[in-house]
Amino acid sequence: MGEIKLTDVKKSFGAVDVLKDIDLHIRDGEFVVFVGPSGCGKSTLLRTIAGLEKVTGGEIEIDGKRVNDVTAADRGLAMVFQSYALYPHMSVRQNLAFGLENSNMPKQEIAERITEAARMLEIEPYLERRPGQLSGGQRQRVAIGRAIVRRPTAFLLDEPLSNLDAELRVSTRAEIAALHARIGSTMIYVTHDQVEAMTLAHRIVVMRAGRIEQVGTPLDLYNTPANRFVAGFIGAPHMNFLKGEVVEAETGTVTLVIGGGHRLLVPISHHKLSVGDKLTVGIRPQHITLANDPGSLAVKVRLVEALGSETVIHADLNGEKLLAVVSGQKQIAPGDEAHFSIAGAPLHLFDDNGLRVKGA
Ligand SMILES: Nc1ncnc2c1ncn2[C@@H]1O[C@H](COP(=O)(O)OP(=O)(O)OP(=O)(O)O)[C@@H](O)[C@H]1O
Ligand SMILES: [Mg+2]
Repeated sequence: MGEIKLTDVKKSFGAVDVLKDIDLHIRDGEFVVFVGPSGCGKSTLLRTIAGLEKVTGGEIEIDGKRVNDVTAADRGLAMVFQSYALYPHMSVRQNLAFGLENSNMPKQEIAERITEAARMLEIEPYLERRPGQLSGGQRQRVAIGRAIVRRPTAFLLDEPLSNLDAELRVSTRAEIAALHARIGSTMIYVTHDQVEAMTLAHRIVVMRAGRIEQVGTPLDLYNTPANRFVAGFIGAPHMNFLKGEVVEAETGTVTLVIGGGHRLLVPISHHKLSVGDKLTVGIRPQHITLANDPGSLAVKVRLVEALGSETVIHADLNGEKLLAVVSGQKQIAPGDEAHFSIAGAPLHLFDDNGLRVKGA
């Protein structure tokens, strides 16, 4: 079992409130990813769950039991850090065995667990080597192995792949997904990598400045971000935001003006918008195409990044920046006039508090 429940969790370092009123319910077997800007409290939240930091307020429960006063060693969780933290003078086998020997586990059982973990992670050939004789990816697998042999209730992983090069990250990411599928334990995973978050998570927790902004499946967050911050954080390159103003508001539709004169009719089921309201209109770069249809936006091209399979176009719409990612290769250059079509693009409307306008 590995159900983790946080209720109103707070953490302060001196006068600095680092975690504020965190409520989160992680189900047994769930893969939850924490994302958010640097310094927002992801590691602190993970360390609080692990028992490496004491909470200033609130409750932490694991499988229905309050663990606020239970030490890290007795919470039954295993943590994997970005820096592998392996003992350099011990072999891989000794590194894997170390924590178990300290708990007086019978030798036979330790040997079995090491064999099983080594097979799962394909590190059998390296068991007698020292960490210094391994590549970064192999070391990271040993660090994960050290967590696996403990058979923890849940795995807590803090940016476990960020020291690896791009190719190894992709393959190790796939290994972690396969590992989770095989052992089914709860995993909480911190990352800065959008692709890791989107591909690994059942649910993503987006944090900002010590608070949870939104919790949802990767596609929930992508398709219906609750606020402008989440909209800008999930998705790369990030969503475009244009200033808009309501010029007509009827039942079922509103008409906005964006880009200094461009009218946009938005179907919206139920709304409390009035003429004159200022909104932010969010459009993902991938939802813009190059077409000169009646509703398209006339832009000035500033920069073109040809990536082969797609072209990233940085443009200017009447003084506002607008980025488009279009598929394929385009004959387009800085200084050109172009037309960006947003026909069919999902539009995200945010009010002046940055909250999503529902129903659009
Ligand atoms: N022991 C500490 N004493 C005082 N402040 C701390 C301590 N540990 C963390 N902080 C502060 O708490 C805030 C959150 O830090 P934390 O390490 O949780 O951020 P993070 O989201 O993991 O960031 P990153 O993405 O850079 O790893 C930061 O402002 C940090 O400076
Ligand atoms: Mg961190």
